[in-house]
Amino acid sequence: MTDQIKELIKAAKERAVKETDSEPEPALTSAVDWPVDCKVGLGLEGAVACETTIGYVNGSKGWLIYRGLDCFELSEFSTFEETSYLLIFGKLPTQKELDEFKAKLGKYRVLTQEEWDAVNALPLGKGHPMSDLRSAVSVLGLLDPTSEDTSVEAETEVAIKLIAKLPVITGIVARTRHGEKPLQANPDLSLAADLVRMMSGNEPTEEDARVMDVCLILHADHGMNASTFTSMVVNSSLSDMYSSIVAGIGSLKGPLHGGANEAVLKTLEEIGSPDNVDAWYKKAREQKRKVMGFGHRVYKAYDPRARVLHPLAELLSKRDPKIQSLYEIAVKLESAVISELGKEKKIFPNVDFYSGIVYAAMKIETEMFTPIFAVSRVAGWTARVLEYLKKNRIFRPRGIYVGPAREEYVPIDKRG
Ligand code: CMC
Repeated sequence: MTDQIKELIKAAKERAVKETDSEPEPALTSAVDWPVDCKVGLGLEGAVACETTIGYVNGSKGWLIYRGLDCFELSEFSTFEETSYLLIFGKLPTQKELDEFKAKLGKYRVLTQEEWDAVNALPLGKGHPMSDLRSAVSVLGLLDPTSEDTSVEAETEVAIKLIAKLPVITGIVARTRHGEKPLQANPDLSLAADLVRMMSGNEPTEEDARVMDVCLILHADHGMNASTFTSMVVNSSLSDMYSSIVAGIGSLKGPLHGGANEAVLKTLEEIGSPDNVDAWYKKAREQKRKVMGFGHRVYKAYDPRARVLHPLAELLSKRDPKIQSLYEIAVKLESAVISELGKEKKIFPNVDFYSGIVYAAMKIETEMFTPIFAVSRVAGWTARVLEYLKKNRIFRPRGIYVGPAREEYVPIDKRG
């Protein structure tokens, strides 16, 4: 069964290579002579914030590379545990290193009684699950006696704790929202399989566990995106790793970033049937509505993560006619968007377009899609925070003041 998933990923990679072969070879990396001269647009477009060896996104080729390794290969052969090790420590682990890393993740995954009680005492389920997740990580920080130690060594250990604990919190959040009993971790399972189990209450199939693993690998890091930059900005004041990740979760929540996966599924449901796609799309364009799951600041080619998730969505959609219909709507919408905006503005599906269908086929509630993104992205957030911490300089850009200059103060009784 998982061989079929491998084959689908391999075919996705072959398609990517074929379609972007004629694009010019990009400059990979080059040492930077600070300060860098560059044009900066709104939203810091074009700004260079740091040098990094963690990951590389090539927007014209549609490449995503972690520490020199292509995301296609990682999703075909790696696991989320191994990929997290790669991101944090900069190289693929030996078997012994991986075993030790997994054992540590497993140990931290089982919440202590104090952590369990504190997280479960939160008023979970009243707001968005991302707000639950944000609050729970904050509480874990309160309980960790090492949290104020901002040395690289202490923050590295906190990074591993967070990678281990986010799936458990996500499971607790998913279940308590519906009055279901939350489940403790099972360190004998892979992190991906345990995540599915702690959310659904059932032991996942081999196929579900592998697909979730691939999803976690693909979402783990992605350049200087909003939530990664947010985490780095917070840590650059030498605050602490928990505060940085709480901030990252807050940033990821928005519909222009991680929250887009949830918005995509709602869009597909709103469209309702493949027959309605053309009319829906025409109206959306007239209303100047953005189509969720499309476009990217960096990618001006097909997002490689969407290339992998598309065939996985197709595979899993066969399980349920309702999901199959959502998949058919998605394919038709993709074709409508690409035939207009793909040509005009190089807008293609991004990672969030097909991930929701994959999760929905696994019977995961729509509101839980973005927390799953966070379970994965915490590896990238922490890796980049740690890398920056080693040569830390506080982030402090400026705003250009365009307001009035030095007006006279008018007493309140004289104001019109
Ligand atoms: N649908 C329709 N038009 C779009 C879309 C879209 N999804 N995305 C961009 N455009 C148009 C936009 O209207 C603008 O047109 P014009 O130049 O005529 O004003 C042009 O393309 C540039 O768009 P932008 O919003 O200035 O681009 P940005 O780099 O600031 O934003 C983005 C990037 C991802 C926020 C944006 O493409 C978007 O809002 N997409 C929908 C939300 C989404 O899918 N987000 C997930 C991003 S990938 C995962 C992640 O990072 O979390």
